[in-house]
Amino acid sequence: MSLRPLLSEEQIQKRILDLGAQIDADYPDGTLFLICILKGAIYFLADLSRAIKRDTFIDFMGISSYGRGKTSSGEVRITKDLDISLEGADVLIVEDIIDSGVTLNYLTSLLQQRKPKSVRIATLLDKPERRLRPVDVAYVGFRIPDEFVVGYGLDFAEKYRNLRDICILEPQEGESG
Ligand code: IMP
Ligand code: MG
Repeated sequence: MSLRPLLSEEQIQKRILDLGAQIDADYPDGTLFLICILKGAIYFLADLSRAIKRDTFIDFMGISSYGRGKTSSGEVRITKDLDISLEGADVLIVEDIIDSGVTLNYLTSLLQQRKPKSVRIATLLDKPERRLRPVDVAYVGFRIPDEFVVGYGLDFAEKYRNLRDICILEPQEGESG
């Protein structure tokens, strides 16, 4: 496998500051509940939450829709639920990437059942070409082509999450994808 740079640390950080400012402007008052989808969104949550100047609560949800490879199993499974109640809350789901949309389509309707005041989605990356289920995304960091990417939280079989840049993971000649 080889890594081809797609988005640099500087590009990512600059875009997140813009998103934070936009989110601050969109939510005039009250506490914003940031729900981080484990594990890929942890770095995005850490940087986005600090780019937002208003009061925030943070909680984590474990969702698994992928096996250990590059393709979706189509199954969504909750591996860790929230500790806090969402009743009456402005909720912002913080996700690393939207691909088929299966995960967030499921998660949005699940969280709606918990009687929040509002639910929106912030994703760092979006691969719109790959969508199988509709997802209404309020904040997108970058729209990217249909390539498998790693770094800044995104993994391939748990590897590469700690890269500072986002890179395209490519099979080398002779390897199968
Ligand atoms: P979806 O349900 O197909 O939208 O899948 C979303 C999840 O799949 C993301 O939260 C990631 O965990 C994973 N995923 C999708 N595309 C990529 C990629 O290019 N690199 C790493 N993980 C990905
Ligand atoms: Mg994820």
